Amino acid sequence: FTHSSYGSRDLSILAYGNFFFPRTWMQNSFVLAETIDLRGWKGPRKGPLRILDLGAGSGAGGLAALRLLRDRGIENPIQLHAVDYSGKSLSYLRSIHAANGHLWPRTTVTTERHDLSKTLPPKTPHAYDFVFLSSSLNEISSGTDVSAVAKSLNEISKVIKTSGLLVVIEPALRAVCHCLHRAAANISESSELWLHGPYFNGSPCPFASTKSRYHSHEVRRRTPPETVRRLNQPLGLSIQDLKFSFILLGRKKPIPFDQGPSVLRLVSPVSKRKGIYCFIGIGGDTEERTYEIQTRTLDVEGHNFIDLLERGDVLRLREWETFEESRLVRIPSTDAIEILWPSG
Ligand SMILES: C[S@@+](CC[C@H](N)C(=O)[O-])C[C@H]1O[C@@H](n2cnc3c(N)ncnc32)[C@H](O)[C@@H]1O
Repeated sequence: FTHSSYGSRDLSILAYGNFFFPRTWMQNSFVLAETIDLRGWKGPRKGPLRILDLGAGSGAGGLAALRLLRDRGIENPIQLHAVDYSGKSLSYLRSIHAANGHLWPRTTVTTERHDLSKTLPPKTPHAYDFVFLSSSLNEISSGTDVSAVAKSLNEISKVIKTSGLLVVIEPALRAVCHCLHRAAANISESSELWLHGPYFNGSPCPFASTKSRYHSHEVRRRTPPETVRRLNQPLGLSIQDLKFSFILLGRKKPIPFDQGPSVLRLVSPVSKRKGIYCFIGIGGDTEERTYEIQTRTLDVEGHNFIDLLERGDVLRLREWETFEESRLVRIPSTDAIEILWPSG
């Protein structure tokens, strides 16, 4: 059962889709929403918005993007071009798009069969607002050779517009995440591309170059629809936790965030011990710090607030105190925390 064989059997594509389609849909919506809500991405003033989905499969990533962009009030016509070497998967993508037009009005889909392991399809225009690689980079580049992955991403990034973004989302497997983030670090040091996420001010993942206990990834808990739950029940796998890693690359300088401990991405679970809640955060200056909040400062609402924090949330602190040469940050109360992302 190889990468190329599952795309050649209808049953494999459907089995893959039952489990992965809803997850991919949700995680890609998350990442794309971050580009708009937190990173300040703006669509073209007029004319079509163009998306390229590489290793598109049956379309969970690209189609989720169409829907999310409409949800965010983007009114331009949208053109999605989906590339995969599995013709059967692309045929499912076209059918799903055609059968659910109400979800993505004024959008068009074109598909192309192409083996991406060597090159992009010839004549790919340098005109994309978004290029997605959704759980496909590790298959297309077949392995975790950092310089090969960096080279492919550099090549692919040539087809994004100046205002565009290359969005790479990968499963949260340690080796895959490290490879992705090392490749991203390599690219941001050696090319004209900027890292727009997951961290701040163009900085790469600090875990990529160290032996940290953590690897950069999000863990989001969502309740799937009942039909999804039922379809997946026989598998006995958890379908609630979405675990994924991502990077955003663009040509434009990313929008700035405060440098220092006050803006942070949460990169660990929140744990409770000896009267404190604590978690690890990466700050606007890319430093890894421990953040703590004393449980005695919290009322019921405060505890509920902390319970809802998830790995991947971006917080801004209004007040804080630092200890241990700024490696430990104490937050006086939950009132001092503003959740920058996810918004709402
Ligand atoms: C894990 S699936 C992800 C599909 C889709 N992007 C999603 O997120 O649901 C990986 C996809 O990459 C495609 N793929 C793998 N290697 C490829 C290659 N060398 N050229 C083109 N497509 C490839 C597979 O056919 C498959 O559809």
